Amino acid sequence: MARYVRFDEFGGIDVLHIVHEDPPLPAAGEIRVQVHSVGLNPVDWKILHGGPTAAAYHAVPPCGNGNDFAGVVDEIGSGVVDFDLGDEVLGGRRMFAQADFVIIDADKVIRKPAGLGMDEAGSLDIVGRTAWATVHSLDLTRKDTVLVSAAAGGVGVLAAQLAKRTGATVIGTASEANHEFLRELGIIPVAYGEGLVDRVRAVAPHLTAALDNNGPATIDAALKLGVPGNRINTIAARGHRTDAGIQGVGGAQAALPELEKIAELIASGDLVFPIDSVYPLERVRDAYEHLMTGHVRGKVVLSLV
Ligand SMILES: NC(=O)c1ccc[n+]([C@@H]2O[C@H](COP(=O)([O-])OP(=O)(O)OC[C@H]3O[C@@H](n4cnc5c(N)ncnc54)[C@H](OP(=O)(O)O)[C@@H]3O)[C@@H](O)[C@H]2O)c1
Repeated sequence: MARYVRFDEFGGIDVLHIVHEDPPLPAAGEIRVQVHSVGLNPVDWKILHGGPTAAAYHAVPPCGNGNDFAGVVDEIGSGVVDFDLGDEVLGGRRMFAQADFVIIDADKVIRKPAGLGMDEAGSLDIVGRTAWATVHSLDLTRKDTVLVSAAAGGVGVLAAQLAKRTGATVIGTASEANHEFLRELGIIPVAYGEGLVDRVRAVAPHLTAALDNNGPATIDAALKLGVPGNRINTIAARGHRTDAGIQGVGGAQAALPELEKIAELIASGDLVFPIDSVYPLERVRDAYEHLMTGHVRGKVVLSLV
């Protein structure tokens, strides 16, 4: 029997529970993956509340949850030629990932680079594609100084480092506890909250771009500091100051080729991708609760092996 995270009604994390079922076999063109690691994303708990987020992902209880996963191919459907049993893969399967087994089209996963850990691989699909797409949306160069909010979070930590690789000067917002960590990555830390504009101005008199991963405060600060709206991208406050031409590029604007590139960069040690904490699947509610604090460094992971 395999374990599947399930919720039968919308609500808080208390609706999450684990059911035991026989895992299905893959159909033609599909593979079955024995999942080792599953990274959580804020959208996972937002879906639980129902409303527009759940509707956007066609989440209708009773259903599973999660997206990111990594594991080992353990069954292969007819017609699949690109994978063998035992191959290590990673990808995303919205509403199905938090389980011992995931069935997925064989052309929707990538191979896990040998140097990439399972927990990192299983946490990469959403934040990796999102960080890649958002950084590329701004066409950053070494002439830029870019503000990245939530720079120690899942998306932000990758976006800040990708921005740095363009040669740009990168200022990252975080709480004091993450400032030394960001400095070690070559990112100039500033505290978020009241007084943000003055603190950014003090370290960067000529801000030219902003990547918002947290909410309206970053957009407002960047506009006040003279950044044109079309050089601000948000993934966390779409709809805020649309009059200023703020961009809303997100993870949907990058696909498997970009995921492969970022997986290689982490595997080679060129990008740091911190794992905040790892929970056994049985503690799925604790893992969600921890993520919901909003103060994680990198990723919260469910381990299934
Ligand atoms: N549209 C898309 O394609 C897309 C894709 C992925 C994510 N998202 C959204 O983007 C947001 C970020 O996602 P994520 O996965 O990176 O989240 P996350 O990992 O949970 O973000 C955690 C980080 O947020 C920081 N933070 C907390 N309060 C803050 C504040 N007031 N100002 C600035 N930073 C603050 C924390 O820093 P400290 O610990 O130092 O306080 C922490 O490092 C979420 O709203 C998510 O739903 C959208």
